Amino acid sequence: MTQPPSDVEDRLRRAEEQVEELGRRLVQAQKLGSVGELASSITHEFNNVLMTVINYAKMGLRHADDTTREKAFNKILAAGQRAAKITTGLLSYARNGGDRREAIDLGEVVRSVIVLVEKDLQMHRVRLDLMLDEHPVAELNVNQVQQVVLNLIVNARQAMDAGGRIVVSVHENTADGMGEIAVKDSGCGIPADKLPRIFDSFFTTKTADAGGQGGTGLGLSMCREIVESHRGRIRVESVVGRGTTFTLRFPLATASNESGNGDASMAKAG
Ligand SMILES: Nc1ncnc2c1ncn2[C@@H]1O[C@H](COP(=O)(O)OP(=O)(O)OP(=O)(O)O)[C@@H](O)[C@H]1O
Ligand SMILES: [Mg+2]
Repeated sequence: MTQPPSDVEDRLRRAEEQVEELGRRLVQAQKLGSVGELASSITHEFNNVLMTVINYAKMGLRHADDTTREKAFNKILAAGQRAAKITTGLLSYARNGGDRREAIDLGEVVRSVIVLVEKDLQMHRVRLDLMLDEHPVAELNVNQVQQVVLNLIVNARQAMDAGGRIVVSVHENTADGMGEIAVKDSGCGIPADKLPRIFDSFFTTKTADAGGQGGTGLGLSMCREIVESHRGRIRVESVVGRGTTFTLRFPLATASNESGNGDASMAKAG
C-alpha cells in the first residue's frame, strides 16, 4: 500500500484538531444557550431582591428604634445573600471548567443547578420536589454534569405548558456500584415513534421563541455525550400524557474503576 503524501496527512490531522475544537465550542455554546433560557426569571428574581433591599432600607431610615432597624438589616442581609448565591451559581455554571474531575456528592451537583432554575419553575407554576437524602459520590467534571441536569430540568419544564411537578432524586446503588440522578416530570410525555430519535443532534419538536432561544435539538445529545464520557449511562422512560423520567447513572467514586460494565456507554430509549 502506498503512503499518502505527508501534506495530506498534515491536512487530515489539522482537520481532526479543528473538529475536536469545534466540538468543545459547541458544548460551551449549548451550555450558555440553556442558561439564556433562564435569563428572564433570573432578572425577575434580582428585581425582587432589589425591591426588598430598597424597601427595608427605607423602613430602617424611617424608624429610629433598634428593633425595627435590626429587622430591616436582617432582611437586607438575607436578600443580599440570596443574590450572591445566584451570581455565584451563574458564574460557576458559565465558566469553562476544563477537563478537571473531582469526587462530589451527586446531590450537591443537583443543588447547584436548582438555585438557577427555581424561579423559572415558580413562574411557570411548576412545583419542584427534591429527594436528596442519599449521598452517592462520583468522580465528575462538575461543570459538565451541571449542564446535563440543567438541560433535563429545562426540558421537563418545557413539557409542562400548564404547570406540573418535577421530582429530582438521587440514589446510591451500592449493589452495582452506581450513583443515580433521576429527573421526573408530569409533562406531555414522548410518543414512541419520537423516543428513538431524542438523543440525535438537532432533533427537536420545539420552535425557537421570540428571542431565538430553544429548539436547537442539541440538549439531549450533549447530555448523552457528557454522561458517556464519564462511563455513565442515560436512560429515558416516558408515557404520553403522564410524564417522562430521565435517569443518569455514574460509577461511584469508591467502586473499582475497572468495573467493565459492558453496556456502560449505551443510551437506552424506552
Ligand atoms: N421531559 C421531556 N418531556 C417531553 N419531551 C421531551 C422531554 N425531554 C426531551 N423531549 C423531547 O426531545 C426533544 C429533544 O430534546 P433536546 O433537549 O435534545 O432538544 P430541545 O429541547 O428541543 O432543544 P434545545 O435543548 O437545544 O433547546 C425535544 O424537542 C422534545 O420533543
Ligand atoms: Mg432541551
